[in-house]
Amino acid sequence: MSEPSSRIPGFYRLSVAERRHLLRLRVDLTEDDLLALDSGGLDAEAADHVVENVVGIYALPLGLGLNFRVNGRDLLVPMAVEEPSVIAAASNAARMVREGGGFESEADDPVMTAQVELLGVTDLAGARARIEAATDELLALAGAALPRLMDRGGGPRGLEVRSSNDHPARIIVHLHVDCRNAMGANMVNTAAESVGERLAELAGGRSGLRILTNLCDRRLIRIRARVPAAALATGDFGGAEVRDGIVAASRFAEDDPYRAATHNKGIMNGVDAVVMATGNDWRGVEAGAHAFAAISGRYRPLSEWQASEGGDLLGRLEMPMPVGTVGGSVKAHAGARLAQRILGPTVTSASELAMIIGCAGLASNLAALRALCTDGIQRGHMALHGRWAKLGTVPARLQTNPVAPVDVSGNGPGGLP
Ligand code: MEV
Repeated sequence: MSEPSSRIPGFYRLSVAERRHLLRLRVDLTEDDLLALDSGGLDAEAADHVVENVVGIYALPLGLGLNFRVNGRDLLVPMAVEEPSVIAAASNAARMVREGGGFESEADDPVMTAQVELLGVTDLAGARARIEAATDELLALAGAALPRLMDRGGGPRGLEVRSSNDHPARIIVHLHVDCRNAMGANMVNTAAESVGERLAELAGGRSGLRILTNLCDRRLIRIRARVPAAALATGDFGGAEVRDGIVAASRFAEDDPYRAATHNKGIMNGVDAVVMATGNDWRGVEAGAHAFAAISGRYRPLSEWQASEGGDLLGRLEMPMPVGTVGGSVKAHAGARLAQRILGPTVTSASELAMIIGCAGLASNLAALRALCTDGIQRGHMALHGRWAKLGTVPARLQTNPVAPVDVSGNGPGGLP
């Protein structure tokens, strides 16, 4: 099947059944995939094998982010989220970015870092020297604990020794592991445990905690977007005026951590929706995002918007993105497998998925700032919140597509349709 276009004009006006039909024309879906669209991808019996004390399952809506073009390729982006307007807003912003050529993205190698804490170390300099001299031995030891990852071309890539100013007898060893297409938490924890005793011996101390860090700053994605000013115009607001409003809003987030937190929440609206749809650990992604936002010692926005010399709006986002396309939760959850099929056969690597998630984040951020610097968020937002209220009062047959259609064409009020 050829690569589907992510532009599907009028999608919002269709019934759920009609949308599914269009999806099937674009994506080769199995019967199993289709079942997941109704069941949510998990039944109680399967859920009982995933977590403890299960009494049932808990569903979220799954929608498609439209209009996305990432590194020259069109993609339908699966998004699982309970907040009205997130999917429409991201689709709307992706359409504006598309007018500037689409998102450009890059990802670091999928390297996670484990921390091994060593305590009771009396000779810090000696310990550091002995550990660094034993780097090859330690990497081999960690690699031996991860034979399947090594077979797939991943494995330990390096180690670093850090001393802790707050604790005179503690050193911390960071072990970097390329996890290939896995998120990799279990792998790096295994690697950390496999070298703990040997590290303690070399340090002349004892091993303390051995666990990954969620501040995975070697696994960053970088997303760039260019939007022609004219594409930003809405209602009475001209494109240049909106562009300048977005740049000013970006500056506000730079200047004020209270605003930066909300700015970043707008990014995470898009990020988490794709992380959830693809069966990934959104708590890990959230922890990494906010720790990275504060890495300079001050909490900062993860994205930045500027005007180019030619008058376009330029956006960039940089953040950690620890996600996988393989692993237990992806395997166990038919909904996560479905999300991967929607993304298409070319999105097989964790790095590609990470980049797409970042694009959804930057799109959500753009939509929010455009709304905030024009009509305000409430007009579009509350119109969509009204859909909830109507759920209980409309005939059941309409409840799959309950109320007024959402305009994802880019012309919705305030940019948040
Ligand atoms: C709401 O879910 C997200 C926003 O608050 C983000 C922002 O303020 O930038 C609209």
